[in-house]
Amino acid sequence: MDLILASQSITRRRILDAARIDARFMSPKIDEENITKSLIADQALPRDIADTLAEHKALKISRKNLDSLVIGCDQILVFEGEIFGKPASPEALKDMLSRLSGQTHRLVTANVIYKDGKPMWRHVAISHMSMRTITSNEIDAYIEAHWPDVKHSAGGYHFERTPDLFSSVRGNWFDIMGLSIDPILRFLNQHQAGNPFQIPRLAAVLGHPIAQSKSPLMHGHWLKKNQISGDYIAIDIPPMRFNTTVRMLFDVGFSGFNVTIPHKEQALAFADDMTPRARRIGAANTLIKRDSGKISADNTDGYGFMTNLASQNSAWNPSAGPSLVLGAGGAARAILVALLEAGVPKIYLCNRTRARAEDLAADISDCIEVIDWEDKQGVLPDVFTVVNATSLGMIGKPPLEIDLTNLNPDALVTDLIYAPLETQLLKDARTRGCEVVSGIGMLLHQGVPGFEAWFGHRPAVDEELEALVLT
Ligand code: ATR
Repeated sequence: MDLILASQSITRRRILDAARIDARFMSPKIDEENITKSLIADQALPRDIADTLAEHKALKISRKNLDSLVIGCDQILVFEGEIFGKPASPEALKDMLSRLSGQTHRLVTANVIYKDGKPMWRHVAISHMSMRTITSNEIDAYIEAHWPDVKHSAGGYHFERTPDLFSSVRGNWFDIMGLSIDPILRFLNQHQAGNPFQIPRLAAVLGHPIAQSKSPLMHGHWLKKNQISGDYIAIDIPPMRFNTTVRMLFDVGFSGFNVTIPHKEQALAFADDMTPRARRIGAANTLIKRDSGKISADNTDGYGFMTNLASQNSAWNPSAGPSLVLGAGGAARAILVALLEAGVPKIYLCNRTRARAEDLAADISDCIEVIDWEDKQGVLPDVFTVVNATSLGMIGKPPLEIDLTNLNPDALVTDLIYAPLETQLLKDARTRGCEVVSGIGMLLHQGVPGFEAWFGHRPAVDEELEALVLT
């Protein structure tokens, strides 16, 4: 089946990609402004205006591409009976956002399908978008940060980039993005033989900032490799807006999220229930919407850490003797819990700020002995596992200074850092004759349980994935 999307929108292309649909993309270039003007003069309703514009676009492409199915799309924003177009200038955007602030507007999304110049199918979806109250200063800051991106969007916002502008939404993610994929797939499935298309599932990583995250690359690879209908994106959410925004994203259709700094504790508090390991760690990195509608929190950092050790070093025996953990941040917490659960009898915990380590030990177990930062070398003859959970040794950070001369050569040394892939700590440990395990595997393995829960398939961690994430 030859399919053409009569739209230039990258977001709409992404939706077809997510649904694993092969399509061509063509720009219909119709005179939207004049058509809209005459429809308004004829007192057409907003839904008819959107539908007519979608129709004009599909028809134009369909006439030149007989035999192809052509999808036409249009989206308009309606507030107080008025149609809001694209903002002509930053001043116009300021005006628009000031009017929409604290109010509910409607997004009308029209999709039509044409063949041989004739309509085959049409659909109009209306989403109700409630914007929170935004101060004038906030609007100025928003325009400063986003103007070049949003000047082509009706209403001057990108819901997928700044969902935190909204307090609640009644609608479906794909409708809001401008392509009602669910009914489109139902139509296409009736018109093609063979395997039916599946409605794409959605997941995202939430953080602040989030641009550095490797998770979209990793989950995107798994989706593509396994031919799964779905999409995984990154969304930046300021901490103050976390609960409202996550609630809204679940409401519009997300199956779940990875959660990273600084939201891991809030994510745990947000959930209706949690796994024992998430409770013990006191933070969540994974949120999953169950069939019942309940939200579960999990923490897969410790799982990722242990699976990585097990997959790279089958000889490692946690109960052989004490471990040394350097660092007392969120990552260290998950690792302490995982090591104890794996059977490590005792852990020396060492952190620059001793008080932080003491809080952590008091919270987790009596089997953790806090030692001074200066004393880390002193315990080396006694330990069988060394874990660096500080940021020292990472590209751009100071080195981790530790002399491994007295380390037992049977010990295993691992670093959570994966940039560089082999840290100085791992190099020194290798020279000493120790087994070493790099941090990249932990990152890859921690993603597995979430992917399986959201997309229904347990993905493989292999060298291809590692190479992709490291580039
Ligand atoms: P994460 O959640 O990833 O573990 P974090 O909470 O920022 O991140 O923790 C970073 C760890 O690196 C902490 O243990 C930190 O020590 P402090 O608790 O004393 O801040 C450690 N760290 C960072 N820079 C350091 C430095 N220059 N010397 C020693 N430890 C350092």
